[in-house]
This record gives sequence, structure tokens and C-alpha cells, in this order.
Amino acid sequence: MSLGLTCLLILLASCSCCQHRTCHCAGRIFICQESKVVQLPRDIPTNATELRFVLTKMRVIPKGAFTGLRDLEKIEISQNDALEIIEANVFSSLPKLHEIRIEKANNLVKIDQDAFQHLPSLRYLLISNTGLRFLPAVHKVQSFQKVLLDAQDNIHIRTIERNTFMGLSSESVILRLNKNGIQEIKNHAFNGTCLDELNLSDNHNLEKLPDEVFQGAIGPVVL
Ligand SMILES: *[C@@H]1O[C@H](CO)[C@@H](O)[C@H](O)[C@H]1NC(C)=O
Ligand SMILES: *[C@@H]1O[C@H](CO)[C@@H](O)[C@H](O)[C@H]1NC(C)=O
Ligand SMILES: *[C@@H]1O[C@H](CO)[C@@H](O)[C@H](O)[C@H]1NC(C)=O
Repeated sequence: MSLGLTCLLILLASCSCCQHRTCHCAGRIFICQESKVVQLPRDIPTNATELRFVLTKMRVIPKGAFTGLRDLEKIEISQNDALEIIEANVFSSLPKLHEIRIEKANNLVKIDQDAFQHLPSLRYLLISNTGLRFLPAVHKVQSFQKVLLDAQDNIHIRTIERNTFMGLSSESVILRLNKNGIQEIKNHAFNGTCLDELNLSDNHNLEKLPDEVFQGAIGPVVL
């Protein structure tokens, strides 16, 4: 065998998840933290418990990106200024996933309405500092846990539609909707939720709530 080929074979053999081409692992945490990451890696280790995508240049998180990562507990997508689209089934059927953080993605304008599905353990969803015009659809999340939805600093979100939070949790929810551009909250917006807490502070163009805004909701205990 030639020396070159031997080297290549050794290189390939050592190429397990943690000598990833563009990303790396720390234990079972998979971290992509570099501007040369322009696409979601296909070979995320299936036993990963946590994923972090920080300061990457990915434009799209494609359909079913995290399918089969059954041990996944946390996903952080932070400071990705190239990110524009999160496709369908991205946060989908992940039985242990309890925390999703999407923040500092000013060009993120689209989250597919089937992006969030079947997340029975979800407890924390952060959507902050994005270019979104609407809160993403959460009716298929169906968590069995209390959920804190923290959606702040999304200045293009002007309207909260009816039934926006229905199906997020079969338990109670805390909604922190501070510092968005909210101007209008439609009647029945909180229909189907048990609201522990609702915070709407610093939406400077929100002047009043319509009479039936809490129709179909239990709570809020704290407004
Ligand atoms: C996770 O799987 C990789 C192979 O994909 C293996 O090298 C690693 O040891 C596993 N880690 C744990 C903690 O099981
Ligand atoms: C409120 O939610 C219930 C189901 O929980 C649904 O049947 C009803 O149509 C909803 N109301 C509105 C105004 O959408
Ligand atoms: C609502 O959020 C604001 C800003 O984060 C905070 O100062 C305030 O204490 C919160 N209100 C409640 C009732 O938690």
C-alpha cells in the first residue's frame, strides 16, 4: 500500500463525529460555531443531546434536519445573520427536547407552519431578535409540560392572530411577548390555553385589547 493511501485510510478512520470537518463535539454536545458552516451538516451524531449553531452562515435549516435524534434535549440557534428560513419538520418528533432557542437572526423571515410538531417534553421556546412577521405556528407542539414561550424583540411582529397559542401545551403556559412590534391582538388570541402569566410590556403601539381577547382561555393569573 502506498504511503499516501495509508495516510488517507488513517485519516478516514479517525474521522468520527468529533473530528468533524466544520463542526465539533464536546461530549454529546454538537457545536457548529464558524462562518464556514454554510449548510447544515448531514452527519450529526445520532446520540447528541445538545446542538448549538452559533455564528454560522447557514441560510436554511432544511426539512427534517434533526430527524431521528431521539436523545436531543436542547437546540440553540444563535447569532446566525444569514439564516432566512426554517423548513417543515425541523423541530419534530423529538421526545426529549425541552429547550429551543432561536435568537439574533435578523434575516429569519420564515418558519414553516409545520416546523414545530410533537414535542411532548418542551418547556422553553425562545424566539428573539428575528425578522419574523408572525409568531410561528405552535398548535402541533402538544407538550405535556408547562411551557414558557419567550418571544421578545421581534419588531416586525405586528399582530397576534386568534388561536395563536392553542396546542402549545396541555398544561399551563407563560407568554413573554415583550418588546415586539405588536399593535393588535385579535379576539380569541389565547383561546385554548391555560395562561399562567402574560407579559406584553414594551409594545409601544399596543393601546388596547379587544373585549374577547381572553375568550376560551383560563387566566391570565398575572398580566
Ligand atoms: C456517540 O456516538 C459516537 C459515534 O457516532 C461515538 O463515537 C461516541 O462515543 C458516542 N458517545 C456517547 C457518549 O455514547
Ligand atoms: C376556540 O377553541 C375551540 C377548541 O378549543 C374551538 O372549537 C373554537 O372554534 C375556537 N374559537 C375560535 C373563535 O376560533
Ligand atoms: C414584564 O416584563 C418586563 C420587562 O422584561 C419586566 O420588567 C416586568 O417585571 C414583567 N412583568 C411581570 C408582571 O412579570
